[in-house]
Amino acid sequence: MERAGRIVAEVLELLRSMVRAGVTTKEMEGVADDQIRARGGTPAFKGYRGYPSSICTSVNEQVVHGIPSSRRLREGDIISIDLGVYLEGFYGDAAITVPVGAVDKETAELVRVTEEALYLGIRNAVEGNRLHDISAAIQRNVEQSGFSVVRLFVGHGIGRELHEEPQIPNYGVPGQGPRLKSGMTLAIEPMVNAGSHEVRILDDGWTAVTVDGKKSAHFEHTVVVTTDEPIILTKYK
Ligand code: MF3
Ligand code: CO
Repeated sequence: MERAGRIVAEVLELLRSMVRAGVTTKEMEGVADDQIRARGGTPAFKGYRGYPSSICTSVNEQVVHGIPSSRRLREGDIISIDLGVYLEGFYGDAAITVPVGAVDKETAELVRVTEEALYLGIRNAVEGNRLHDISAAIQRNVEQSGFSVVRLFVGHGIGRELHEEPQIPNYGVPGQGPRLKSGMTLAIEPMVNAGSHEVRILDDGWTAVTVDGKKSAHFEHTVVVTTDEPIILTKYK
């Protein structure tokens, strides 16, 4: 999982460096697919329940599962890039949200708070805690900032499968849920809307968008629970 996670991080960093006005999400998809395979991995999302691409590119009001297309990024957009790798029997999964050039103040704050919520969640992924301690830490941070946590999608266990038990909601009550044990591997992934938490799925069967049309951000890491500091397997930089 360490090696799968490293490929996820390296390719995500490459994609981050491609983000600028004028680039198409399909161009990012091409680079991701090539670069995952060049490192010996297989894109985990392609073909998963019929998903057509190697990454998800969700722009502005798109929450998750946006399908790469000929759409060109524009100054002021934000793009969430979600990427999974399969390597030698194991999975890694991570996501980042990147501003395209200068974005308005609320949008910058949305991205900042969502990333902060991910790390607050991760900090709670320690042996002896309960699963919903992670969820509650995320929810508290997001709602204190006036944003909302998406309910329809959740984080997940990860390992020999992309999605394993348990589901990891981004909302919950501290002290609830199963007890965390050393060695558990979790994909923690807050999805945060600037407005209402409500989302709907477009007719392509995949793209989730906010019902109110306001922007949404998404950050994700694959982590290992230990007795103290969680290990981030998809750490970039
Ligand atoms: N990170 C997302 C998840 O864990 C990406 C899945 S996209 C899919 O659900 F295509 F694989 F469904
Ligand atoms: Co995931």
